[in-house]
Amino acid sequence: MRQILIAGVSGAIGAALARQLLDREPETTVIGLCRNPEPVRDRIPDRRLQLVRWNAESGNHGELSNSLAEVLGRNGELDTLIYAAGLLHDDQVFPEKRIEDFDAAVMARSFAVNCTGFGSLVRAAVPYLRHRRFKRIAAVSAKVGSIGDNRFGGWYAYRCSKAALNMLVRNLSVELPRRCPPVSCVAVHPGTTESPLSAPFQQSLAQLQVHTPRETARNLLAVIDGMDEQTNGRFYNWDGDELPW
Ligand SMILES: NC(=O)c1ccc[n+]([C@@H]2O[C@H](COP(=O)([O-])OP(=O)(O)OC[C@H]3O[C@@H](n4cnc5c(N)ncnc54)[C@H](OP(=O)(O)O)[C@@H]3O)[C@@H](O)[C@H]2O)c1
Repeated sequence: MRQILIAGVSGAIGAALARQLLDREPETTVIGLCRNPEPVRDRIPDRRLQLVRWNAESGNHGELSNSLAEVLGRNGELDTLIYAAGLLHDDQVFPEKRIEDFDAAVMARSFAVNCTGFGSLVRAAVPYLRHRRFKRIAAVSAKVGSIGDNRFGGWYAYRCSKAALNMLVRNLSVELPRRCPPVSCVAVHPGTTESPLSAPFQQSLAQLQVHTPRETARNLLAVIDGMDEQTNGRFYNWDGDELPW
């Protein structure tokens, strides 16, 4: 029995990943983290999906550790951890066009969801990564978080928090192979995908290739399936190409 954890399972991409994993792997159990489990239970009525209430902005490490201990048990093991939570806009947050839009509270919330939540989750998950099978950790990042690729500017909070997420991935790729080998930890850009997160930008995305969540989940799972110890510490595009940090 494989155990896969998906944070942000209520999102378009997180839910599509959970569905595909449950469909293709009868022996797999998915632990889904989200703010509001009830609607997810209705959308994915599968007994092998265990839902855990979690808010990336709570910053409460003990609460998350206790929740994982409850679903995984003392000797639980995780094979794959996928971080698919993310914040680009909501009623208080909207991508900045210029420096005058820069706002410390927006920056802090974006970091909490796009970066800190991932670090806290891996911290809480380490006890379940000590087994000897190969472990995969994939953070769903964004190409706009690439410092080397940034030619357009703007989107300060989102870009900076995704760049920080990428640094977390890189840091973990140094520490985890010492602590819980064999393991690989990567960042992956999912490609532009129809979702509530991308919805306000559909017009400006018209020239881009836009994927359905199902296509994106298939692409991401191909990247995640292809992970081995050599991929550790890299940043991948949805098609498997490597991206600059
Ligand atoms: N869609 C794209 O074109 C695109 C492009 C590049 C990168 N990405 C990345 O892909 C990932 C998934 O995005 P998506 O397109 O699937 O967007 P989405 O449908 O809006 O999903 C976002 C997810 O993040 C969760 N989330 C937001 N704030 C949270 C918080 N405080 N605590 C816990 N969870 C929180 C949402 O939970 P709720 O359901 O509770 O709101 C939801 O599960 C994100 O990391 C995003 O940055 C997406």
